[in-house]
Amino acid sequence: MSRLVVVSNRLPVVLEREEGGFTVCEGAGGLVTAMKPLLARVGGAWIGFCGMCEDERDPRWREELARLGDGGVYYHPVIPSRRAYDAYYKQFANQDLWPRFHNMTHKMSRDASRHWPAYEAMNRTFAEQTCHVAEPGDMIWVQDYHLMLLPQILREEMPECPIGHFLHIPFPPADVMCRQPQAEEILAGVLGADLVGFHIPAYMENFIAAADMIAGATLLSRTESEAVLELNGREIRLGAFPIGINPSQLERGADPAPVRRKLGAMADTLILSMDRLDYTKAIPNRLEAYRMFLDKHPEYHEQVSLVQMLDLSRKDIPAYGEEKAKVENGVSEIRDRYTSWQAIRLFAERWRRAQVAALMQMSKICIVTPRCDGMNLVAKEYVSAAPRDGVLVLSHQAGAAWQFAQHAVMVDGESPQSIVAGLRTALEMPLPDRRARMLELKRNVHDQDVFWWADQFLGALRPAESLAGD
Ligand code: G6P
Repeated sequence: MSRLVVVSNRLPVVLEREEGGFTVCEGAGGLVTAMKPLLARVGGAWIGFCGMCEDERDPRWREELARLGDGGVYYHPVIPSRRAYDAYYKQFANQDLWPRFHNMTHKMSRDASRHWPAYEAMNRTFAEQTCHVAEPGDMIWVQDYHLMLLPQILREEMPECPIGHFLHIPFPPADVMCRQPQAEEILAGVLGADLVGFHIPAYMENFIAAADMIAGATLLSRTESEAVLELNGREIRLGAFPIGINPSQLERGADPAPVRRKLGAMADTLILSMDRLDYTKAIPNRLEAYRMFLDKHPEYHEQVSLVQMLDLSRKDIPAYGEEKAKVENGVSEIRDRYTSWQAIRLFAERWRRAQVAALMQMSKICIVTPRCDGMNLVAKEYVSAAPRDGVLVLSHQAGAAWQFAQHAVMVDGESPQSIVAGLRTALEMPLPDRRARMLELKRNVHDQDVFWWADQFLGALRPAESLAGD
């Protein structure tokens, strides 16, 4: 039986040094949300960064990490120097690739491109650790935009292992990719995999066009959600595999009392907005839409309250600091304008899972309106936890729209006017309609959960064998 070896930039835990020891935080974002329950179920090895660099002299963090990684999942940290890690993660990955792949090139830092050598070097460092951990025949599953050179390096080093790559963010249109100075190397890197996965067919389509234009790969066959490319006499399979969540985590009835205490007095209808802080999520647009909605619809005053949850990440990157200030301003503006009830509350802190579940279960509406988003697992988590008459307002620009467009209230994430209209539709939707739509959404999230997703991908990577412990 082969083992699963997952390689991602982050391990699901981040260790931070504090007086007398370490704090352990959970990593943010969709990748960790999805991979953690998966690995907990099937077991295997997980290679990634845990927050500790080689300059960290206190050895106790290793024991802490080993303790966290027991129970069938073994954590293998990559330990770079702080300087090398920052150049790769803060600069190239998050100020060059991230904005470009989300088609927001105006957010790129001009300087980031010169950190390409650090990106290359860090992919080699991850490769060394992977070669150290993986055994012949293990399935190696490389994750996301941080490690796009890894499949090709591993192909040379470990040709006997099936290698998969999954991109958790959109793949940009070919004309955007063409302007990436290192596009050729990046495509060659990803094309080193046996199987390359995307959330939805549109991203796969963009990749096929770029692979043809930039890398000279030939398209051998394709259906809506699968394709085969050929490059240098080798076949590379592509597929759309929409990622799911672990629904059981949120479905159980959660105690609302602690959440009610945190929220204080709120109006009867709670509207939820929950994001990792990122400019791709267009949170200021959403706040503007909520303000416009209240301006336009006084009949909803004292009837609705919005809770904005923010999970902070990439704090040292200037564009993220600017975005945080915009969100805070947007919230203050609403709070100052409407004082007769609590129209809005902002929580820029991480809540425990049970509390998130309770908050979602209490929220009649959830608005998920990014301007560009690979999938967006908050939308799926809300559906999983939502009351039977809950309504999801979703933007077309979220990957989740591919699965949910028929049953969510669809809006344009760029346009506050469109969000205002969506909010009104959600609030005024007749009960049978709300229930029927939510039932369909719940069915989808339940049937196509994270285990289904992994099964689809890993089954395609090595059809003949199932995972140990599955
Ligand atoms: C997105 C990316 C993940 C990343 C997450 C959180 O979901 O696709 O790879 O881990 O954001 O971002 P961070 O930079 O905090 O790891």
